[in-house]
Amino acid sequence: MDDPGYSYFRKRLKDLTGIDVDFYKGNQLERRLKGIMTRVKVSSLYDYARLLEREPARLQEFKDYFTINVSEFFRNPERFTELKERILPALLKERRGPKIWSAGCSYGAEPYSVAILLQEVAPFGQYDILATDIDETILGKAREGFFQGADLKNVSEERLKRFFQPDGPGYRIKPELKRRVHFQHHNLLLDPFPQELDLILCRNVVIYFTEEAKRLVYRNFHRSLRPGGLLFVGGTESLFGAREIGFEGVGPFFYRKISG
Ligand SMILES: C[S@@+](CC[C@H](N)C(=O)[O-])C[C@H]1O[C@@H](n2cnc3c(N)ncnc32)[C@H](O)[C@@H]1O
Repeated sequence: MDDPGYSYFRKRLKDLTGIDVDFYKGNQLERRLKGIMTRVKVSSLYDYARLLEREPARLQEFKDYFTINVSEFFRNPERFTELKERILPALLKERRGPKIWSAGCSYGAEPYSVAILLQEVAPFGQYDILATDIDETILGKAREGFFQGADLKNVSEERLKRFFQPDGPGYRIKPELKRRVHFQHHNLLLDPFPQELDLILCRNVVIYFTEEAKRLVYRNFHRSLRPGGLLFVGGTESLFGAREIGFEGVGPFFYRKISG
């Protein structure tokens, strides 16, 4: 970015939030920063950084705007069918209590979708789903487990009945399902990764990262998985250089750890 205040802004933002904007793609980043600066009526990144330092509400507003939280239950439904029919049964044969991580889980539709599938495939199984995001506000929403409208467009009537309670204009996830998912704050570009995992979902998160940041994250996912563990990526994503990192493709959007 050619704004002379960029390095000051970057440093202060990193101190204040842990977000390093250098890891996010330049053109998208610029568009988003310009959008929010117009909204708050500042014309330089230096002035914007000073505003964020002074006003916690503005800082929160930046975080809400910067993290794009779009999600839905069973996003790319055919992939979730594959997860249910092929991937999870094979995983459950190897591990009775698989350890699963939804990284960049937004408001919870993704980890709750996996919890629904596990409940259907292994109703008495023992499993834990860790669900993390950089955005504390969205994690609060995820913990509430309240959904409505388009979030639920891929949820069948049968699943709505079995796993949700009607609540006002929407539906609330039932407590027995909610218990299975543990939400935590985690920055994929800063914090240590959990270990010995069987399945990681990271979908529609690294699309906003630079190539360098993506590679860093994928290498860390590889270290996080136990040998044979699986990575499930988004419907428009693929892992360039998968072999070199130590993954093999096992169907579109699923990768297995083969070495290291
Ligand atoms: C578009 S949503 C994807 C939600 C879900 N995985 C899906 O595919 O429906 C992207 C999420 O990534 C989160 N995110 C962005 N940068 C992150 C980072 N460095 N570490 C963890 N999460 C991040 C955002 O807060 C947002 O909730």
